[in-house]
Amino acid sequence: MTGSALEETTVGRDLAEPWWRGAVGYEIYVRSFADSNGDGVGDLAGITGRLDYLSWLGVDAIWLTPFYPSPGHDHGYDVSDYCAVSPRHGTLEDFDVLVSEAHRRGLRVMVDIVPNHTSIEHEWFARARRYPDGPDRDRYLWAFPASGGGPPNNWRSHFGGPAWTLDEASSQYWCHLFLPEQPDLNWRNPAVRDDFDSILEWWMDRGVDGFRVDVAHGLVKDAELRDNPQIAPITEGMDPFDAFNAFEHRHDMDQSENVEVFRRWNRVCAPREAMLLGEVNAPWPDRQSRYVEPGALDQAFFLQAAFLDWAPETLLTMVRAMHDAAPQGISWVLSNHDRSRPVSRFGGGETGVRRSLAASTLFMALGGTPFLFQGEELALPDGVLSAGFHDPVSVRNAGATSGRDGCRTPMPWDSSPYNGFSTGDPWIDSELRPPEHTVEGQQADPDAPLHRYRSLLAVRREHPDMWRAPLEWIETADPQVVALRRGTIAVVANLSGRRASVSLGSPGWEPVFASQEGSRLDRPAHDAVSVPAESTVVLAQDHRRT
Ligand code: NOJ
Repeated sequence: MTGSALEETTVGRDLAEPWWRGAVGYEIYVRSFADSNGDGVGDLAGITGRLDYLSWLGVDAIWLTPFYPSPGHDHGYDVSDYCAVSPRHGTLEDFDVLVSEAHRRGLRVMVDIVPNHTSIEHEWFARARRYPDGPDRDRYLWAFPASGGGPPNNWRSHFGGPAWTLDEASSQYWCHLFLPEQPDLNWRNPAVRDDFDSILEWWMDRGVDGFRVDVAHGLVKDAELRDNPQIAPITEGMDPFDAFNAFEHRHDMDQSENVEVFRRWNRVCAPREAMLLGEVNAPWPDRQSRYVEPGALDQAFFLQAAFLDWAPETLLTMVRAMHDAAPQGISWVLSNHDRSRPVSRFGGGETGVRRSLAASTLFMALGGTPFLFQGEELALPDGVLSAGFHDPVSVRNAGATSGRDGCRTPMPWDSSPYNGFSTGDPWIDSELRPPEHTVEGQQADPDAPLHRYRSLLAVRREHPDMWRAPLEWIETADPQVVALRRGTIAVVANLSGRRASVSLGSPGWEPVFASQEGSRLDRPAHDAVSVPAESTVVLAQDHRRT
């Protein structure tokens, strides 16, 4: 591994286990985290300058969203060179410094790999388009119009409209499950597979500890490009994501061959202990779990929670089913750079904060590697835009969707101009956050959410049973309440609107963390614990009393 020696800090980690066992990750949306040069766009040097904060918070790994050269049609998820740094975000030297400074603090670094599509400006696509008979043509998916004219089949783009754009010069369409400027690669082509092996190697040689895999469920497409069954009507002005969901994605997504790609990647990454973490959005737990079978991806995100508004019973049912399908294979997340922040989705204000912390506390005890999205530790609501849309999804659909801007506003560090994110105008115009929503403001207030998240991570480190011991569910009478036991740890998540009492089956429990600020929990008298509404408690068995 290049970069400086990595300090082993994960308390309780057995060195025979991969580094991500017991770890907690932190997603950095690079454009909006910290800007070191005042051009209004977040950069790698800015992140390096904030590593002490992340160490203090107690996370073990950071995931960097794409910082590669890109025309920026999808804010970096349209990559035009996979082995370089965009001047917008810095230089390769900045990257090397970031990795070595992170490693010096015991922090792992994961980068985002975008294999479903390239940018329209990638040299592969430029050559594929220019030379229809050349060797690069088959790196992408091309098809002639349907017999009656128009796109070759009924596949839709996630971002609205058909998933096909006509290349007039060759009279063929190219496929794009996202923007036309994001042409989909042809994963049946061995040259594509070889190139990505080399890209993974290239970043591992620079010291990265893992990869977040964008659209991992989308890579391989039906060889015959068959129509998807339509399950709901599409109406004028419909939200593009709803229009996308009006189809059963039988032929464009979640093809069994995807897992073969990841078995191959695993052979490349496992010898170097680099984690493969997939953005997998498969429809059912049994489909999702196939991606994380031994020898494929190491983990896949639990994206369903990031889609939900406050719906305790649905959330808990999904959590249990997903956990049981892949006990260590799921990375538990409440949010990311594509979704409204949980505090806003869960009711806003103190209600949203209380509910987010209750759900996060449960997620910390489910095995797998939980990730916080930047600002989640501050319990931020969505940012408020002061002018127009920036997300291409909103721009392209003329406001039919509010899009993803609200979760992408700058990280609020302090109360200086632009909340200390940059000295220049940020790339996204948003209202200033109040002092109590900033890192500086919360560090000074012992009751702030930041300290609760920090304590939660510390409790997880102190009690490795919380993620390592085998999980047994404790049945409860209320579907809005779940309880579990892992070795010396018990967790009760009461997401209902009423106080709940749960019997843990044995006496001698000591509360070690309560999600709800100020709710001092008494040591349970016998084997029953009484948990306030919309809160989660973690208890440790006190052996002296058993
Ligand atoms: C998922 C990423 O998280 C999102 O931001 C992006 O727009 C799409 N994949 C397409 O790459």
